[in-house]
Amino acid sequence: MSDFENSFWSIYVTGFALAGIIGCLVLLWISGRKKVAPRADNTTGHVWDEDLTEMNNPLPMWWVGLFIITVVFALLYLVAFPGLGSYPGRLHWTTEGEYTAELVKADKELQPLYAQFTAKTPEALAGDPNAMAVGERLFMNNCAQCHGSDARGSKGFPNLTDNDWLHGGTPDKIIETITKGRIGQMPPMAAAVGTPDDVKNVANYVLSLSGSPHDSLRAQLGKSKFTACAACHGADGKGNQMIGAPNLTDDIWLHGWGEQAVIAMIQNGKTNEMPAWEHKLTEPQIKVLASYVWGLSHRPAKP
Ligand code: HEC
Ligand code: HEC
Repeated sequence: MSDFENSFWSIYVTGFALAGIIGCLVLLWISGRKKVAPRADNTTGHVWDEDLTEMNNPLPMWWVGLFIITVVFALLYLVAFPGLGSYPGRLHWTTEGEYTAELVKADKELQPLYAQFTAKTPEALAGDPNAMAVGERLFMNNCAQCHGSDARGSKGFPNLTDNDWLHGGTPDKIIETITKGRIGQMPPMAAAVGTPDDVKNVANYVLSLSGSPHDSLRAQLGKSKFTACAACHGADGKGNQMIGAPNLTDDIWLHGWGEQAVIAMIQNGKTNEMPAWEHKLTEPQIKVLASYVWGLSHRPAKP
């Protein structure tokens, strides 16, 4: 428990917890000792609703016993488990530890299930309905929030069904993407291109590469400026999967279509991150997932 920045709050919480428990004992002691002057009829002398009186009997022993047991239980509990400020408890139990233990247990239980998958190639797995049912569930639980439940993505999140790949579409590349994550980074390029007019021209040249609507005069003028982009997107604009630079000739737009979107890319650049899964999913899980993703855009091998 390192949630406290200094020991003050830890001591403060500990003080309140212990004072509460000791307060209970003191209360018991006081109410056990206090002798109300006895009356002949053994009542406290209070009368409610005309004739309702209260007997002045001592606390029943079974009740006092239970009370003391709960206090002892509370103290033992606080020795064993975290509860007193930053004191971790003798058993060193944590929610995180419990979660990890459950994960390890679940992984163990699932091992026989995944064992039947490890021997197969990803291409063969993509044709195995069992593996694909598992892959789909893993995808829905871990990937759908960004890539969509149909894996078609949305602005900024690539479509995984279309055979257009930023980082490569072979099973090995997809496994690498899922395991280590990816960062697609394009720096702001406006200064390297020149004036705002030059930026507009090169944007129109980019649009011309995919046959998208563009101003052909501006595209002509922008062509020479594309050298600033060629280092990453290639002289022909077909991209470079080594650095995740997209193909600009295929009319598939990750960050929006049209002159404004391309100009915005040139002016602002973009950093786009696919998280790494190596610590959240096991190797066989990643393999099944990669086979599932690969199968979305490939005809799977016959089993
Ligand atoms: C937090 C959002 C997020 C989650 C969750 C996520 N991804 Fe991604 N993923 C991205 C982004 C963003 C990119 C694009 C990275 C880039 O621009 O280079 C990406 C890229 C990819 C790519 C590369 C696509 C290509 O064209 O090369 C694959 C494959 C992929 N994700 C699969 C998965 C799988 C499988 C999961 C579930 C285990 C997953 N993603 C979960 C955001 C996410
Ligand atoms: C340092 C490498 C680099 C340079 C230089 C570069 N880009 Fe990019 N560009 C990228 C990367 C990487 C991405 C993908 C970002 C992502 O993963 O989201 C990208 C994305 C784009 C996109 C979005 C594509 C889509 O599918 O939405 C456009 C348009 C673009 N670049 C145009 C240009 C132009 C025009 C230039 C030159 C003025 C240029 N880029 C220079 C690396 C580069």
